[in-house]
Amino acid sequence: MKNDTFIIEGLGGKKTLNGEVSINGAKNAVLKAMAATVLFSDTVKLENVPDTEDVKKMNSILEKLGAKISHLDHTVTIDSTKLNTSDIDVDLAQSMRASVVLTGPLLSRFGKVVFPVPGGCVIGTRPIDLFIEAYKKMGAEVVQDNDAYTITAKGGKLKGAEIFFNIQTVGGTETLMMAGVLAEGKTVLKNCAMEPEIVSVAEYLNSCGAQIKGAGTSTIEIIGGGLLQSKGNSYITMPDRIETGSFLILGALCANNLKITKCNPAHIESTIHLLKEAGVDMTIGKDFIEIKNNGVVLNSSFKSVNVRTHEYPGFPTDLQAPMVTFLSQTTGESIVLETIYEGRFKFTDNLKKLGADITIMNPREILIHGNAELKSVTGESLESYDLRAGFATVIAALLAKGTSVVNNVYYIDRGYENLEGRLSALGAKIVRKSVC
Ligand code: EPU
Repeated sequence: MKNDTFIIEGLGGKKTLNGEVSINGAKNAVLKAMAATVLFSDTVKLENVPDTEDVKKMNSILEKLGAKISHLDHTVTIDSTKLNTSDIDVDLAQSMRASVVLTGPLLSRFGKVVFPVPGGCVIGTRPIDLFIEAYKKMGAEVVQDNDAYTITAKGGKLKGAEIFFNIQTVGGTETLMMAGVLAEGKTVLKNCAMEPEIVSVAEYLNSCGAQIKGAGTSTIEIIGGGLLQSKGNSYITMPDRIETGSFLILGALCANNLKITKCNPAHIESTIHLLKEAGVDMTIGKDFIEIKNNGVVLNSSFKSVNVRTHEYPGFPTDLQAPMVTFLSQTTGESIVLETIYEGRFKFTDNLKKLGADITIMNPREILIHGNAELKSVTGESLESYDLRAGFATVIAALLAKGTSVVNNVYYIDRGYENLEGRLSALGAKIVRKSVC
């Protein structure tokens, strides 16, 4: 596995970054749209696709199933019409949790799917019990053997059912929504996740013949039918709201002027609300956010705020790490409560290495004492524990005085395209060192 590092020359508290950054398509939307191509009787074109490692991995998984794919300049074309197996590749599936969303379309189309029991990952155990329970409700038989699940729809076809999710699950909602598209009769999903990525995929499927009602609310109804047809109608990937929020936090801490373009500020309302409460001044447009005359030196004018991660439209867990980095620079104390995952504070080791004052109260709650003067320590490198923590660590390294080394940049590459190039364009001194 590629294991590059970033060498970052810190700004030492000076807000010298300036310029414009445009936001890429959302990986967490396009991965689901790619999985949905299994539901189609013709080729699907996806546009504004970020060139990230997870997208490449989803391409490989689909290719192993027999799909024909071309990926050129942010456009991916997928022909899933002649898939020759519904057994998902074990190694690829185990290396990307999002591959589990393929089980819905595959089971719904072929009446059978085989996929590996997913392992835990750096941010927690991440079980799939809710998927399994739902498939059983839709008339499927589930056999777990030798670390793989074989799921078979009785009579070769899933049956519509009423499914209540005990926990709001993004992947579960998307997967069962897609399973319902080719199932017999009506599927009703209750206590659904309401993330905008779900709405984006549902709207596209509806434009191609699906009958999905209620995406973006807590109840979704799907009337099953035949294979969908794109008829040349492309899926346009929505802007990545987590990338938007991460650049906004980076701008507040490291830039005097930063314009974030091609984004949808309405999708990060909770983040904007908290940052405004903390004293970050910004102008919000329909598709841009601008920080102007933010000062040239980081001072203690930002106020501490408490944060609790929550399902959409609450504060996203995927912005928790950048937010904690921000809170290490505010006046006073903040408490951050992580309600989605039980293992998502590991990255605070990086902040502590740089001099932040953070107390872990319990695996889900931390106390941050603000106003930390961050400084790199010779001989100590920082780790990207997951992609979101990776971006947060880059922000912390930029804030710090001195040069920092960030390891495992592969994690950052999973979700962000050319982060170093985009930061360099804003004036950051960041270089990638390739490690083979
Ligand atoms: N859960 C269960 N059982 C299940 C399914 C989920 O207990 O069968 C639990 C999970 O363990 C977690 C909670 O439910 O504690 C919510 O998980 P969810 O299913 O919503 O997460 P996901 O679909 O696996 C997506 C994003 C994550 C993001 C979460 C929450 C993708 C590919 N991933 O994951 O994004 O954190 O929703 O918003 O869409 C990332 O991009 O860095 C990332 C981790």
